[in-house]
Amino acid sequence: MSLVRVHNFSISLDGFGAGEPQTEDTPMGHAGHRLHEWMTATHAWQHTGGSRGVDNLYTQDTDTGIGAEIMGAGKYGYPGWHDDADWTGWWGSNPPFHTPVFVLTHHPRPPLEMDGGTTFHFIDAAPAEALAAAREAAGDADVRIGGGATVIRDFMAAGLIDYLHAVVVPIVLGHGSRLWDGLEGQEADYQIESICSPSGVTHLTFTRRGL
Ligand SMILES: NC(=O)c1ccc[n+]([C@@H]2O[C@H](COP(=O)([O-])OP(=O)(O)OC[C@H]3O[C@@H](n4cnc5c(N)ncnc54)[C@H](OP(=O)(O)O)[C@@H]3O)[C@@H](O)[C@H]2O)c1
Repeated sequence: MSLVRVHNFSISLDGFGAGEPQTEDTPMGHAGHRLHEWMTATHAWQHTGGSRGVDNLYTQDTDTGIGAEIMGAGKYGYPGWHDDADWTGWWGSNPPFHTPVFVLTHHPRPPLEMDGGTTFHFIDAAPAEALAAAREAAGDADVRIGGGATVIRDFMAAGLIDYLHAVVVPIVLGHGSRLWDGLEGQEADYQIESICSPSGVTHLTFTRRGL
């Protein structure tokens, strides 16, 4: 069975995966770019230049063996994108996914085929149903849960995540979209490792026991 993986999900010390308010000009709210500075400094992100150290080792694993992604409506666009018929996501005409992407939303619309192999499918479905659709599209490959915090939390609560790579960034956000709410005791199901990077972030990996 293919795996369900989360990569590079960056959270503040108090567990927020995004600040607020999320707008077209400030997609991460008051967090700005601070949750992802560790990642955008890597060679895997920059392609030319960038660090080839610990952070890069994690970042370069992101796309390997992935055949489909599931993301939330909050990652796909700013609040209100549903009312914008021309909105095609943040990523331009050739998004970096290059696979089918299932966008969970209460406002479904027809599939949107982009350049480079990305097709967005907009579905209103429970996590297990969405995963079945993504698995079928991915074939033998793995499915990535791309975030945000709400969607990762729901999939984890449903027991559907096999591997979670979370990155704790040493900032305090105080409010926003929080990952861990309602997930009490989840650690019992996982082997957990943590590695502190010289960049200041801590990489946490949760690997489901018995995989
Ligand atoms: N820290 C990171 O590494 C990281 C990674 C990815 C994204 N982000 C950021 O995280 C923020 C978004 O996170 P978020 O937690 O606010 O939102 P989210 O998880 O992206 O999306 C949640 C929304 O998706 C829709 N949805 C979720 N489950 C559904 C279901 N089962 N059926 C139908 N619709 C469903 C609902 O939207 P509707 O009711 O409106 O349809 C829900 O409000 C953005 O700022 C994004 O940039 C951060």
